[in-house]
Amino acid sequence: MKHLTSTAIAVVLATVGLAGGAQAQAQREFRIGMITPPAHVWNQEAAALGETLSELSDGRFSIAVFPSGQLGNESTMLQQLQTGALDMAWLTTAEVTTRVPDIAALHAPFLVEDIEGAAAILRSEPAQEMLEKLPAATGTVGPCFAMTGMRQLLTRQPIEDVGDLAGKRFRITPAPAIRTFFELLDAAPAPMPLTQVYDALANGQIDAIDMDFESIINFRYYEHAPFMMVTNHHMFGMVALVSGRVWAGLPPEDQAIVREAVQTHCDRIIDRFVAEEDDKLARLEDVDGLTIVKDVGPEFFGDVVARWDAMWAEQTPYVARLRELAAGL
Ligand code: BEZ
Repeated sequence: MKHLTSTAIAVVLATVGLAGGAQAQAQREFRIGMITPPAHVWNQEAAALGETLSELSDGRFSIAVFPSGQLGNESTMLQQLQTGALDMAWLTTAEVTTRVPDIAALHAPFLVEDIEGAAAILRSEPAQEMLEKLPAATGTVGPCFAMTGMRQLLTRQPIEDVGDLAGKRFRITPAPAIRTFFELLDAAPAPMPLTQVYDALANGQIDAIDMDFESIINFRYYEHAPFMMVTNHHMFGMVALVSGRVWAGLPPEDQAIVREAVQTHCDRIIDRFVAEEDDKLARLEDVDGLTIVKDVGPEFFGDVVARWDAMWAEQTPYVARLRELAAGL
């Protein structure tokens, strides 16, 4: 048996130590926050993002998911991304519209007829341009948009015509562009985070909500608001965000891994919503006590869509651009 000299042993130990240290340093758990509950498609895909990141990074990267607003509401999570206290978040597009008003154009009423149209807009060139505005405006990097389906109206009382919406206290996701729509209907918009909506309906604080099929099913809002109009009146987007500080600390090859992994799951979320939207409506049609009025189109809302456009076209040229794009779909 050969004996190593003490110098050789020292070299071997130093090399092993260095390699071990480098590997330990490169291990990384990304913390990701979202307002949605564990059953939501976003959360399922966030968990799957952990597996994709692990595969692409040879096991170096993993994910810790913080659901249901555990880290605070969406504006708090956006602040945490800015400081680097949070690595990633999947937020509603509504949340970032105050920082990037162009993104409000995604919430234009009746921009698209259906969820396939929404998917096409979220993957379009103008949408990519919007993502490029995020770093300067929010201190985050946004690899991609995804969605949580189309929005519908759920009310406590039956709605016969548009005038019945006047005066109704309508829970909305906090965002000026969404507020405008309900103000133009002479309703009383009540902005509140998703996590407070069920209780607000249950205790009578609100009369109605602006919501997507996925959330209506997950939270069983129909228990307190048993009338649903299938309007598809706006698409509800998600934006995948990475803290700009965290991003800047990653070497380019790791940025590429994170970008590819997040993009994979944005695509899966969009594809799943497109594939599952009709089934979700069918599930809701089976709910006892829920009355559904289908195919409520823009004509129901009178001149509200045109008035919304007139107001928001002054805020962003993307209203006209997206209308033109949508007309050609
Ligand atoms: C909402 O605020 O209505 C909402 C947020 C995230 C996912 C779905 C809905």
